[in-house]
Amino acid sequence: MRNIAVISTALAGEYEKSGAATVSLFGQLVNLGMVESEDTAFDAGCSANEYHVLVRKSAFSVNFRDLPLILKAGEFFEKSPDSYTYFPFGSDFVATVMAVGKGVKKLAPGDRVIPNADIAYINGQAVSGIPSNTASKEIEIFPEHKLVKIPQSMPVEVAAGFSVGAQTSYSMIGKAHLKKGDKILVTAGSSNTSLFLINALLGLKADVTVLTSSPGAKEKLMKMGVEKVIEIGRNEMPADNPQFSTLLKEQAGFDVIFDPFFDVYFPRIAIYLLPYGRYLTCGLRNQHPGVATEGEGMIDASSLATLIIRNNLSVIGNCLGDTGNIRQALNDYENEALKVAVDTVFSGAASAGDFIFNTYLNQERFGKVIFKYDT
Ligand SMILES: NC(=O)c1ccc[n+]([C@@H]2O[C@H](COP(=O)([O-])OP(=O)(O)OC[C@H]3O[C@@H](n4cnc5c(N)ncnc54)[C@H](OP(=O)(O)O)[C@@H]3O)[C@@H](O)[C@H]2O)c1
Repeated sequence: MRNIAVISTALAGEYEKSGAATVSLFGQLVNLGMVESEDTAFDAGCSANEYHVLVRKSAFSVNFRDLPLILKAGEFFEKSPDSYTYFPFGSDFVATVMAVGKGVKKLAPGDRVIPNADIAYINGQAVSGIPSNTASKEIEIFPEHKLVKIPQSMPVEVAAGFSVGAQTSYSMIGKAHLKKGDKILVTAGSSNTSLFLINALLGLKADVTVLTSSPGAKEKLMKMGVEKVIEIGRNEMPADNPQFSTLLKEQAGFDVIFDPFFDVYFPRIAIYLLPYGRYLTCGLRNQHPGVATEGEGMIDASSLATLIIRNNLSVIGNCLGDTGNIRQALNDYENEALKVAVDTVFSGAASAGDFIFNTYLNQERFGKVIFKYDT
């Protein structure tokens, strides 16, 4: 089976002819290539596999959350260049079921599936969640409940980048308890999470304003159907942004803010929440020292607390979502109520470097970047 992976310097030398590449990712050199390994074995009759399913992936993708893992693998190989190993990565995929354990009821060989990243809590601890941090392994075994069937109409390149963004954004929208006429702000408009949020909100005909700091994203967001898109510098305060100031003359603020980068935006935008406003976040920019966090500390904690209390604000954290969220998103996709942004599709051993470069470093990237295993 094939594995797109971070590979050691020794392996990179060996795989040079097949197109292994070195990418400089936020100051860390990372060797990327395609490694062949033994197929994962699966005994359908074994009791350990009773509720498990063997799948073969046809495509996968990575999310921002996978970046620290990729960087750490790069760091590891920098310290141990002679080691002869590799780290597969990734958290989204589409696969075909190859075999099932005896207790599996809802899946059968031939079904097309994607991850179900439902999160559960046992004894106060988050368990479950994303089923794989190694989505690039071509063959893998999963518990049945961590997979969900996809509609026939869903192409491989959409399915391979669907679960994390769709499940998270649907969960966030559910928790926002949107009301008719709510004024909504979405930050980091060209992040994959925000693209899912925006597409879902457009499906609900919501009144959405989007902030983006990427060159060229404004035009693409408007083409998607967003009427109010504001370009904001990565260090810019909204009050200094003429478009933002003009908007605030037309509307007093926002009832709801969806923000995937709490540390970048919350301190800058919390003051624009209207009384009883809801702020929802699912993440931080600063997940690794190599990834700069701009905007941190622009308003101190006690001023923020005063603002939250005085204006009766709700600050809501969100991690992934539940099974209902992914099913709803799949239904909406099937019924054309949810569009999905796909940027590029790569395949072939020589594309591993370009795939990662385009995902994390191409500032014009707009939508998911997919790696497809050729059949
Ligand atoms: N907890 C969960 O369940 C969960 C699930 C999904 C995502 N998340 C979190 O959501 C966040 C986004 O993830 P993603 O995979 O959607 O990210 P992504 O697609 O990699 O986000 C890239 C976007 O970030 C913005 N950006 C890039 N550099 C920046 C900088 N220096 N400062 C500010 N913004 C910058 C740009 O958007 P603009 O230029 O348009 O501003 C860019 O398009 C992450 O924090 C992730 O961990 C969490």
